[in-house]
Amino acid sequence: MSSVVNDTKIPNNVDLSSDKRLQRALEEWQPNFINWWMEMGPEGYQADDVYLRTATSVDHEGWAHFDYVKMPEYRWGIFLTEPVKDRTVGFGDEFGKPVWQQVPGEHRNTLRRLIVTQGDTEPASVEQQRLLGQTTPSLYDLRNLFQVNVEEGRHLWAMVYLLHSYFGRDGREEAEGLLERRSGNPDKPRILTTFNEPCEDWLSFFMFTYFTDRDGKYQLLALAESAFDPLARTTRFMLTEEAHHMFVGETGVLRVVQRACELTKLDPNGDARAQGGIDLGTLQKYMNFWFSSSLGLFGGEVSSNAASFFASGLKGRAKEDQYEDHLALTGTMNIPHFKDGRIIDESVPLRMAMNEVLRDDYVIDCQRGVDKWNRAIKEAGVDVELTLPNRRFNRGVGLYAGQHFDPQGNPITAAEWSARQGDWLPTEADRAYVKSLMTRPVYEPGKMAHWIAPPKQGIKGRPVDFEYVRHTV
Ligand SMILES: [Fe+2]
Ligand SMILES: [Fe+2]
Repeated sequence: MSSVVNDTKIPNNVDLSSDKRLQRALEEWQPNFINWWMEMGPEGYQADDVYLRTATSVDHEGWAHFDYVKMPEYRWGIFLTEPVKDRTVGFGDEFGKPVWQQVPGEHRNTLRRLIVTQGDTEPASVEQQRLLGQTTPSLYDLRNLFQVNVEEGRHLWAMVYLLHSYFGRDGREEAEGLLERRSGNPDKPRILTTFNEPCEDWLSFFMFTYFTDRDGKYQLLALAESAFDPLARTTRFMLTEEAHHMFVGETGVLRVVQRACELTKLDPNGDARAQGGIDLGTLQKYMNFWFSSSLGLFGGEVSSNAASFFASGLKGRAKEDQYEDHLALTGTMNIPHFKDGRIIDESVPLRMAMNEVLRDDYVIDCQRGVDKWNRAIKEAGVDVELTLPNRRFNRGVGLYAGQHFDPQGNPITAAEWSARQGDWLPTEADRAYVKSLMTRPVYEPGKMAHWIAPPKQGIKGRPVDFEYVRHTV
């Protein structure tokens, strides 16, 4: 299975050439994808040689092959992890039965919707990050941005493969739609709110890859449990790539934190901004924004959709193996509700709380990076602690939407919210300030913009001052 036919237009380990119809359909979609990439992919760098990791097969050596490649020539392929022999459904009402190699008729629409929703986030993020290269803090960061971008492109391929293979004509139409919507476009927006937010500076980019790509990780983990085996195998392979995206976010924020601390200490008044850097207060606001926005991606706290996805085997919990009870018919979960101005715990049947179960895992995972950032602040001898806001803060979806809460999760009035919002979320002035630090790109190998510390090491054993992108002006 893992041997890859590289002489076809589309590298794959799904024996594409044996299914001529499918191969033709994907080969017809490919030029549309390339058109989209040239229009909406990184602007200004398509002719450059970029030191990229390309998956050429799914085995240990093949999935991480590093070399210079021009982005439009990146080999976007279709890779599924090896099938698990005699795999059975791991949760829900179908627990223990054989997994599905085809889509059951009764789940066709729901599965298609799940795949389209996941698929839509992939090109959306490329669109959001389209102009960031032009203000890159270093060649190292430029390369990481492009690595993330080409892999999100490949994730789109992964979802389009499923749509073309298993959903007939509807699937082909959805695959076209994935290239037609545009992040932030009021007439044809991307499906999920966070993927329509502007991501116009590098602090946003690092927060996005830390918090929003991590939502992606948990969605993929939940889909990796799916009874629809091709979806499970596709998302499992996507997770290997996703790890790098979150690494870019975690280390990116860490380097901004380190630099913020240096500049804070350098300044007689402890003001990193006065030294031309990003201060930790601003960084906290960006964190509040991207964390709270990404929390919304998990959906409502109490959700009959989530319950039916779980019951029917479509979408499970992250790492279902960690649980003893795979039916979740009896358990409950306490979820704070906001009623009559007070917060009251209510017990919710476990299946109805599956979004919250996934969100719990996500929040714990997010905290790990915050702890690392705080350790760096402490080591630098600066007296600041970064904190994740309470999950009720600034929510647009679910039980807490339409209400106001402070970052500690206490209910506040609309008047208090408008008065204090600017203390908690980036203001126009904050965004303008951050952008003002990032007006020109840094192309000299090894050099870093003033507002960020260098990385601890380079990529794949290369030095930090390696020419990761050969940019021709
Ligand atoms: Fe992705
Ligand atoms: Fe990602």
